[in-house]
Amino acid sequence: MKNLIQSTTELAMSIVVQYIQPGCLIIDATCGNGHDTLRLAESALCVSGSSKGSSSETSSGCRILGIDLQEVSIENTCALLIENGWHPQVLSSEWQNDSVPAADSAPILLAQTSHENIKSLAARFQQDVCLVVFNLGYLPGGDKTVTTDAGSTLAAVRSALELLMRDGLVCITMYSGHPAGKKEKQALLDFAKELDARTYHVSYINMLNQQNDPPEILLITRKR
Ligand SMILES: C[S@@+](CC[C@H](N)C(=O)[O-])C[C@H]1O[C@@H](n2cnc3c(N)ncnc32)[C@H](O)[C@@H]1O
Repeated sequence: MKNLIQSTTELAMSIVVQYIQPGCLIIDATCGNGHDTLRLAESALCVSGSSKGSSSETSSGCRILGIDLQEVSIENTCALLIENGWHPQVLSSEWQNDSVPAADSAPILLAQTSHENIKSLAARFQQDVCLVVFNLGYLPGGDKTVTTDAGSTLAAVRSALELLMRDGLVCITMYSGHPAGKKEKQALLDFAKELDARTYHVSYINMLNQQNDPPEILLITRKR
């Protein structure tokens, strides 16, 4: 048994995968080194022994869209997916401007752009959005000056909530151990606690007795 509450990322992912629904679009809004994207792919696309690969046919009918601002993150995610037997399609800016029908595209797509553009990207696929995952902060092992920030994260979360289907989930792992992260977390909490309780249900998980600003999880589901 994994002791889930000792690892915030493990806890977040174990909750997140419960919200995967067949035929839906799943968005990793900060794919970074690709660990979350891989976990989502393994959970959403490997149903009933379906094979890995670039075929648009998966038994679940889900599609994973991984977004990151940095080229290195897209490269790392791509490499991790390939290492694990998946062949993602990487969206170039030309691809994003194309009108390739969703049915013809790969089950995993990666886009190098800001998650503020989540709506226009999602609109390319006529699929309900059941899950949007944000793992905020900077790229582990990468440039620590490139970090998510309150303004663009809030804009992306607002868009994600607009996209979200009923009973879908937006999961945000927040890191407040650096000044920008502290500000971002506060902005997200201020935003989330004002969400209309008739439409959204919000949960906030905090590792209360841990030292050094441990990560925290904000979960928002759409009720109607
Ligand atoms: C903590 S890392 C994500 C870790 C990743 N989920 C994993 O499993 O390895 C945060 C990522 O957010 C990305 N990022 C920062 N600002 C962004 C933005 N506006 N849009 C999309 N990605 C952004 C960074 O480039 C970085 O790769």
